[in-house]
Amino acid sequence: MLQKPRGTRDFLPDEMEARRAVEWRLREVARRWGYREVCTPEFEDLELFTMRSGEGIIEEMYVFEDKGGRKLALRPEITAAVIRMYINEAKVAPKPLRWCYFADCFRYERPQKGRYRQFWQFGVELIGADTAAADAETIMLASDMLNATGVTYDLKVGHLSFMKNLVKDLEPAMQRRVRAHLDKKDFDGLKVTLESVNKADLLTSLTALVETRNLAEAFEIAGTIPEKERVEQMVESLDASGVKYSLNFGIARGLDYYTGMVFEGFAQNLGAENQILGGGAYRLAQLFGGDDVASCGFAIGFDRVMVSLGDAPARKDTVVGLVCTPEGRKRALEVGRAFRDAGIRTEMDLMERGFGAQLAHAAKSADFAVVIGKREAESGEVTLKNLKTGEQKTVSLDEAVAGVGANGSR
Ligand code: HAM
Repeated sequence: MLQKPRGTRDFLPDEMEARRAVEWRLREVARRWGYREVCTPEFEDLELFTMRSGEGIIEEMYVFEDKGGRKLALRPEITAAVIRMYINEAKVAPKPLRWCYFADCFRYERPQKGRYRQFWQFGVELIGADTAAADAETIMLASDMLNATGVTYDLKVGHLSFMKNLVKDLEPAMQRRVRAHLDKKDFDGLKVTLESVNKADLLTSLTALVETRNLAEAFEIAGTIPEKERVEQMVESLDASGVKYSLNFGIARGLDYYTGMVFEGFAQNLGAENQILGGGAYRLAQLFGGDDVASCGFAIGFDRVMVSLGDAPARKDTVVGLVCTPEGRKRALEVGRAFRDAGIRTEMDLMERGFGAQLAHAAKSADFAVVIGKREAESGEVTLKNLKTGEQKTVSLDEAVAGVGANGSR
């Protein structure tokens, strides 16, 4: 028997309905904040992803050559593609641009619960606003979106300038290594790395920075940073807006395009793969041949949100099963149209089952049976049977539609 590729999933209807319901809640929040949907290709030139991150990232991607010899990659994330599109299509559009997307990404990772090779992100990118207000808006929107999904989570907000200030005397490659250790909370590795360049003294201040949740203390540890006022303004806006978050200057982010504010969200009820959101302020446009425009954004790991929310509830909409005798079949088609026109999910026998078997099937798959036999076909009425209570009555088609409609969703 053929199986699906490793790290991918199939979704049955109950699960798809649950996913779509959450997706639409996210879309609605994005709409209210003025973020409009964009769509980019599923695959891009490999260069788009290696330009900033280097060839090392190839290990984590699905990379292939097409028949024309072009080196391509399935997108591991969508930010780079959105910025490429901005430069190609919307450079002159009035700023800021508020864009969002809901799309699948591909990473060649070791699969486990919450970590897949194909997964979906709901993301937003705010392009062209280089202010504390923009940083704050991104975080407020993220918080509204996570609230809309119903997950319980912790939001941690930081800023890279603190960490950068502490390690500014290190070589850029060494700075990246320090960031990577901090991103993985690997303090033993950090110690070894710092000792290898005779900077063991930095361990104390870096550890203190990671541990503090207090802005004044972070300034004290990291020394004067040029972005001080911007960070203060952002924190002020967040506090004024009532967003629930904690400051965390240990956030380093795995992707290396971030320049300032960084933030992450964690589901409280998940284990190892509990990061459900990641984002921050970044500059990618210039690297891709555009102007040096500042952006910020985030992506929600949609699949992890769904894992956090738990098992998909069973279907919610009311189902009508049409049950008819051969004489009632033509009328049943008209009756089916009337129910569907009223927005009611309506299913008809396709298996040439007899009357009794149709009714038995409806009892398993529907909430109401609408029976159309010879008598109903002649009178124009229908027999409506509530399959949960067993109650049955013969009524006009309009009454039957209204009766089922009033039943609402289960
Ligand atoms: P990221 O942190 O790499 O950031 O991914 C965002 C979220 O996608 C993660 O927090 C996680 O929930 C989810 N995720 C990542 N890998 C997997 C996986 N293998 N399986 C399931 N879920 C996964 C970005 O991708 C940035 N582009 C976010 C961003 C937007 N920054 C600025 N704008």
